[in-house]
Amino acid sequence: MKVAIIGAGRRRNGIGEYIAKYFSVLGAEVLGVLGTSIQSASAAAKSLGRYGIRAKAFTGFPEMVSACRPDAVAIASPASTHGEYIDRCIELGLHVFCEKPFLPPERQDALVTIDRMMARSREKGIVVGMNSQWPFCLGPYEALCGKVEPSRIEKFSMRLSPIVRGREMISDSVPHALSLLYCTMGPGEIDGLRISGGEDALVIGFTYRGRSGTCQVRVDLVRETSQPRTMAFGFNGHVADRIIDFDTYTIYLTCRGKKLKIADPLELSVSDFIAAAEQVGEPLIGWSHIHDTSRLLQQICREYPLS
Ligand SMILES: NC(=O)c1ccc[n+]([C@@H]2O[C@H](COP(=O)([O-])OP(=O)(O)OC[C@H]3O[C@@H](n4cnc5c(N)ncnc54)[C@H](OP(=O)(O)O)[C@@H]3O)[C@@H](O)[C@H]2O)c1
Repeated sequence: MKVAIIGAGRRRNGIGEYIAKYFSVLGAEVLGVLGTSIQSASAAAKSLGRYGIRAKAFTGFPEMVSACRPDAVAIASPASTHGEYIDRCIELGLHVFCEKPFLPPERQDALVTIDRMMARSREKGIVVGMNSQWPFCLGPYEALCGKVEPSRIEKFSMRLSPIVRGREMISDSVPHALSLLYCTMGPGEIDGLRISGGEDALVIGFTYRGRSGTCQVRVDLVRETSQPRTMAFGFNGHVADRIIDFDTYTIYLTCRGKKLKIADPLELSVSDFIAAAEQVGEPLIGWSHIHDTSRLLQQICREYPLS
């Protein structure tokens, strides 16, 4: 598979570099990167050299596509840029792996746009997946904290540490919580939504009514600007913390004194997308997931600013 990356650099928190790395590790050829200036795009392309990737730098999408002829495009640029690139990829028949949030929740037309993109991608026979990687960690979570029985989930909590502030914390981080709920309890509705806190810390609470039952959700967002940033999640009070050893880039989950080394869920997410694209099947984080979690994300964002 030939791949191009939109946003392989980092201005704030972009992870395009790691997406490119995993496409390459998993056997794809990363041929091009797109950035906002030739200097920044060239710097991003150069730093991919450490993974053995020889990618060309571009500032124009059409030029990148005609030079690299990719089968798939990974979109790792800021959320405000996703919609235009997704549309262009679909029209050209290129598979799309796009970062969460799929579209900015502030977009009034986000859900009709997602429906239109879904219909068009199906006509074109291409695969579209969203990168929301934490569901790929549910197996290791269960190995550490015990089996998650969907019908017995009463509580879910998640702590995330975005570098952005205020409303943007919600669109940045809440997709991870919604993806974990979707993948365990099925598509759902939320009610009893409450948001408290300020620009640098928010607590979001709601009831999630999924296919398998109802649970109380608490998401804590606390702004952190330096690595390693705190991340934890758990069901029914069994909370696992994510620990990263940056020297070896090894990821662990810890829970109640136990520690488990895990595969990077980002690698598993890229791998799932590649398999789906090769078989023209549905990735784990495919259209239904994208549509339902985007709808709930919009509902939560509408509750901000604080009342
Ligand atoms: N799944 C996760 O765990 C996770 C973690 C972090 C971020 N994300 C998601 O990744 C996405 C990007 O994060 P961010 O907003 O923090 O990224 P960022 O670091 O602000 O930007 C990443 C790169 O995007 C490029 N870029 C910006 N505008 C572009 C455009 N119009 N066309 C092409 N490239 C453009 C920039 O390239 P130049 O350097 O050339 O200007 C930049 O290096 C967001 O959707 C975010 O939610 C996901």
